[in-house]
Amino acid sequence: MCGIIGYIGNKPAAPILVNGLKKLEYRGYDSSGIAVLENGKIDCIKSVGKIEQLKKKVDGRKKPPAGTLGIGHTRWATHGVPSDVNSHPHISRDGRFAIVHNGIIENFAELKTSLQKDGFVFKSETDSEAVAHMLQKLYDGDILSTLRRLIKTLVGSYAIGIVFSDAPDTMYAIRKDNPLIVGLGDGENFIASDVTAALDHTHEFVLLENYETAEITRDGVNYYDIDGNPLEKLPYRVNWDAAQAEKEGYPHFMLKEIYAQPKAITDTLRPRIKSGEVVLGELILDKKYVDGLEKIDIVGCGSAYHAGIVGKTFIEKHCRIRVTCELASEYIYGDPITDEKTLTIIISQSGETADTLNALRIAKARGSHTVAIVNVVESSIAREAHDVLYTYAGPEIAVATTKGYTTQVAALYLLGLHIAKIKGTVTDGRYTELVNGLLGLADGISSMLRNTDAIKDFAERYKNRRNVFFIGRGTDYAASLEGALKLKEISYIHAEAYASGELKHGTISLITKSTVTIALVTQRALYHKMESNIKAVKSRKGPVLAVASPANAAIADCADSLLTIPECDDDISPVLTAVVLQLFAYYVADARGCDIDKPRHLAKSVTVE
Ligand code: AGP
Repeated sequence: MCGIIGYIGNKPAAPILVNGLKKLEYRGYDSSGIAVLENGKIDCIKSVGKIEQLKKKVDGRKKPPAGTLGIGHTRWATHGVPSDVNSHPHISRDGRFAIVHNGIIENFAELKTSLQKDGFVFKSETDSEAVAHMLQKLYDGDILSTLRRLIKTLVGSYAIGIVFSDAPDTMYAIRKDNPLIVGLGDGENFIASDVTAALDHTHEFVLLENYETAEITRDGVNYYDIDGNPLEKLPYRVNWDAAQAEKEGYPHFMLKEIYAQPKAITDTLRPRIKSGEVVLGELILDKKYVDGLEKIDIVGCGSAYHAGIVGKTFIEKHCRIRVTCELASEYIYGDPITDEKTLTIIISQSGETADTLNALRIAKARGSHTVAIVNVVESSIAREAHDVLYTYAGPEIAVATTKGYTTQVAALYLLGLHIAKIKGTVTDGRYTELVNGLLGLADGISSMLRNTDAIKDFAERYKNRRNVFFIGRGTDYAASLEGALKLKEISYIHAEAYASGELKHGTISLITKSTVTIALVTQRALYHKMESNIKAVKSRKGPVLAVASPANAAIADCADSLLTIPECDDDISPVLTAVVLQLFAYYVADARGCDIDKPRHLAKSVTVE
């Protein structure tokens, strides 16, 4: 996700800003920029690509900027392609305001229309540029009252750093739902999206709360609430080093990203659910097209493929259309039967997986309309698909995907509901139940993350087993595929996902007292079937850990142990069971001393066939 750094002091700001941005590289970005105030003028330097390219532009100046007040930004594109002009900082039309912004301005379209009516010309495709122009429009000679009115104007999430050319001794910051901190130095002060950017200069920080304004000078900081009342805010000390700070104190990126899932799910769902309706404005799957569909193919690799299997069960159930889900590496050599009556959904977190990209090209060449579910804006798959439904999980650093997978599943649920609504294959009541279920997922994940002790205990108990089965039926079977992969890829324990009903057709011969079976039991309609499957495993002395919904908690009577997920609609339980299985795999791998973020032999994106 994007990164912010701001500096006011007695040293040249430019090198401090560039070095601070380099500390934020771990967050993932596609472009960067700085703005420095010097002699009443704002000097803005931006570059798509790596920070090295920005540094070259700064150092390449005949006279590098010498100003001692400035802001900097690394951008992770959400609105608008990665480019120089879309990079931050953005400058107001009159050149007096420079801003950097993290977050999403949800009322961007309305603001842009209103500003354009007032003659403001937008240079970029970003929502953030509207903030710079709105500042100019609202400015009445009192910057603090202007900021209060700006806060009341913006809808969405934001952390904003501001430089105002009429205020050479002051930097400003405001925030809502996006972290922004003030770093306190000696004769100098900072703003940053996280401590990593300023740890070289200070370990004393103040966290800005929602709707608060910080007025930052070289010698001190004033804080105000949304009504302009002064606030007393106590600093806190951060004793991390920079490496720890990148993980925000988590021991591994994977755990940090598991805990980022409530926000990732919210950011992926919230812009697409308005007044109880799924609104996929970015897609052009209209009624004429959907009514002419004969089937849907879903294609992906690894966890993306597993998300596709979960999506298949949901879309077939609610859209009453045939859905296939194929491994991309099989699809590309399988001479696929596809045409303009097939919708092909291409799933890829990185958007660069070679097998998946090749599958996309084949589907397009054979006339199929393609929709990509991708996390990286403007990645190859995003650029080449006809339509893109982005997940907004933010950059994923750990090789083993977590938030990438759950947001892919959430995006598939959105797509399924969009199609079901058009086809009229879901009643209004059921549609509303499912939409409300989606809106409750983030809270469900948060409640599980508040206490993971039981999962840690099971991981400790089973960490040395050599073989683990993950079983389930229906959407639980689909979810078990990802649980098995997570355990395999980070703990190196052999694991296999199996349809519960299939065990008796041979594989149950493998069950012994040392073979652990993890049974997903969230489907109320399949409770008794799962009960008999678990009893069959138990009768072969195999220990069984059941992961069940509260309605199925009675399964504890036949399993050895039980983990329950929060109440949720059966049809969307894979998002919650995924978190349990991610944590199980994580704690097993941690107990085994594995390299969790970079497992042996694996790459984050497999860009070769
Ligand atoms: C998931 O934990 C793995 N890292 C891997 O299976 C991954 O999902 C697969 O390589 C597909 O990657 P993509 O989503 O970036 O296309």
